[in-house]
Amino acid sequence: MLIRQSPSVSASEITTPSVYAARRDFIRNMAVGIGAAGLGIAPAREIRAETGNSLGHLTVSPFSTRDEAPTPFKLVGSYGNFYEFGPDKDSPEKNAHRLRTSPWSVTVDGEVKTAKTFAIEDILKWAPLEERIYRMRCVEGWSAVVPWVGFPFSELLKRVEPTGNARFVEFWSLADPEQMPYVRFPFLDWPYVEAVRLDEARHPLSILAVGMYGEVMPKQNGAPLRLVVPWKYGFKGAKSIVRIRFVEKQPATVWTKSSPEEYGFYSNVNPDVPHKRWSQSSERRLGEFFKRKTLPFNGYAEQVADLYAGMDLRINF
Ligand code: MTE
Repeated sequence: MLIRQSPSVSASEITTPSVYAARRDFIRNMAVGIGAAGLGIAPAREIRAETGNSLGHLTVSPFSTRDEAPTPFKLVGSYGNFYEFGPDKDSPEKNAHRLRTSPWSVTVDGEVKTAKTFAIEDILKWAPLEERIYRMRCVEGWSAVVPWVGFPFSELLKRVEPTGNARFVEFWSLADPEQMPYVRFPFLDWPYVEAVRLDEARHPLSILAVGMYGEVMPKQNGAPLRLVVPWKYGFKGAKSIVRIRFVEKQPATVWTKSSPEEYGFYSNVNPDVPHKRWSQSSERRLGEFFKRKTLPFNGYAEQVADLYAGMDLRINF
């Protein structure tokens, strides 16, 4: 995801995210000696988050990708977007320590029979937590394999009853200027709100994640609760969720409001539909040097393509 640059900056002065990522990852690999990760042989200690907040024994969900090594946590935890904490890829890691994740509650409202507010401690007891090793693809061209920890979104539907009008689900992130210094700047229309269709949300691959790499979710990755929808570009995965709202009409989202011509509502990973400013046909895995081909629906076509039967995905991008 790219915040538009001020017109006073010429195009040649801007390092594109993919070039920046490539340079930085290459240098990082050389520097910390984890070049082996580029060959998919990440040593086990690189794979754990090592925050000391282990979630204990976890079953690995059959929805997990089995043939790809997880990207080392060092890379996933230190290179990302969480614009409430700043515009740079390392801003989340540097600044998200300001986030207070306790007490935390999530309000579920809109087109539901009864609106409810759940404490995070209760949400954690909804279902046994499981590990979901998913391929993730950022709209900017980088990707990763992440062992998330969470439970299917559909667990929420056992606790609230959407009305017959509910067709879409919005996910609202916290927007507290005291903890999140960059929400004082209107470069996005805060709060960060993303949305998906209700049938996409209840698809078994869609999860609410509370951890990664076997541990409690690091703040920079969206503690204490975030959405993960692996066949869509990463920006659909709202972090640090405080509100889930069921609605009847397709809502505007933070990115469709910001650049409707660049970020469609669906945002399914699609190598055939380029972003207005770059191709989406290939991607660079964090920690790797060479690019690889991007797969339709990020490799999850078999599971999710039916959701879009009859739709022109060039129009509904
Ligand atoms: N959620 C919030 N609240 N704010 C953000 O800036 N960035 C999105 C998404 N969720 C973002 C967000 C984008 S653009 C990406 S690529 C992913 O978070 C990156 O985070 P991850 O690597 O932890 O998935």
